[in-house]
Amino acid sequence: MENRRVVLASRPTGPVTEGNFQLEKLPIPKPADGEVLVKNLWLSLDPYMRGRMSDAKSYVKGVDIGEVMVGQTVGEVLESKNDKIKKGDKVLTQLGWQLYGCTKDVNRIDGSRAPLTYYLGVLGMPGMTAYFGLKEIGSPKPGETVVVSAASGAVGSVVGQLAKIWGCRAVGIAGGRQKCEYVTRELGFDACVDYKAGNLHRDLQAACPKGADVYFDNVGGEILDTLLRVTNLFARIVVCGMIADYSATQPYAVKNLRFVLVNRIRMQGMIVFDWKDRYGEALKALGEYFAQGKLKYRESIVEGLENAPKGLIALLSGQNFGKQLVKLA
Ligand SMILES: NC(=O)c1ccc[n+]([C@@H]2O[C@H](COP(=O)([O-])OP(=O)(O)OC[C@H]3O[C@@H](n4cnc5c(N)ncnc54)[C@H](OP(=O)(O)O)[C@@H]3O)[C@@H](O)[C@H]2O)c1
Repeated sequence: MENRRVVLASRPTGPVTEGNFQLEKLPIPKPADGEVLVKNLWLSLDPYMRGRMSDAKSYVKGVDIGEVMVGQTVGEVLESKNDKIKKGDKVLTQLGWQLYGCTKDVNRIDGSRAPLTYYLGVLGMPGMTAYFGLKEIGSPKPGETVVVSAASGAVGSVVGQLAKIWGCRAVGIAGGRQKCEYVTRELGFDACVDYKAGNLHRDLQAACPKGADVYFDNVGGEILDTLLRVTNLFARIVVCGMIADYSATQPYAVKNLRFVLVNRIRMQGMIVFDWKDRYGEALKALGEYFAQGKLKYRESIVEGLENAPKGLIALLSGQNFGKQLVKLA
């Protein structure tokens, strides 16, 4: 048995390439007192990883060159030197892009309640992001129109379904007909606009006949700029992600900011870990909706650690269709 890991080999300028990563082989580590040795089964790929490949100032420090890529995993405990965790437990870890690792930072998860991978998605960080971003910053009221971009994805799919559960009109924005059909037919949104169809403003007006009260922004750029034009008085914009800009060498310059003034819009950034003390509340609510069949969810899976770079590149260019994961074992 040997460990394999993917480290950051170079920082991308523009889009990520496979050459930015390097696969390494090394011995399996031994746990120190208080630690567990974990065999990772699943790795979550998330858009924030693009930011961690950069050394620009952000809300968390970037990965150093030669350091293992960050990421959340689901794994199985092979050996425990921690009284609270036993061999065989399934755990959530922050061990990153590697097959094995030792850590104290684990949370046990219950595979009888939901598939283990769901703790990386709908019942994990993306689900928490949707829950707190919409509830606490979007503050939707029944009857209002909630618009969300990247609507078929890990965060966006939960945002729109929560909006429906909480009595709102849910409008998605997604790339392509297939994703839009999934968003309306499978996830139950009231409408979905294909931003690649070329009539974004007109299509948003048609999908939001009473205007937009809440915009949950996962992408930034031109979509945010256009959406500003269909906002209502006192609309709320949840600035959750800017994936359209993550690989851009020149950030998009928003032209319609005057609507923030004219419509007295409250626009606020959010980072999920600001709510870490309340994760239990979100897990309970999302778990109940899931058990009641009110939350649907899909995954995009690549196989093998060596394909993780391809998976991240696919995610950042919208080729994923659902929560992007890497199957490690
Ligand atoms: N603030 C926080 O704490 C927090 C936490 C988690 C996630 N996020 C952010 O939330 C967003 C969604 O994350 P996720 O994990 O749920 O990913 P995801 O939606 O499952 O996948 C990313 C999606 O972004 C869309 N996309 C990619 N490039 C785009 C572009 N140039 N223009 C418009 N859309 C583009 C693609 O969907 P289409 O094919 O539909 O374009 C792609 O499928 C990301 O911006 C992420 O950084 C923020």
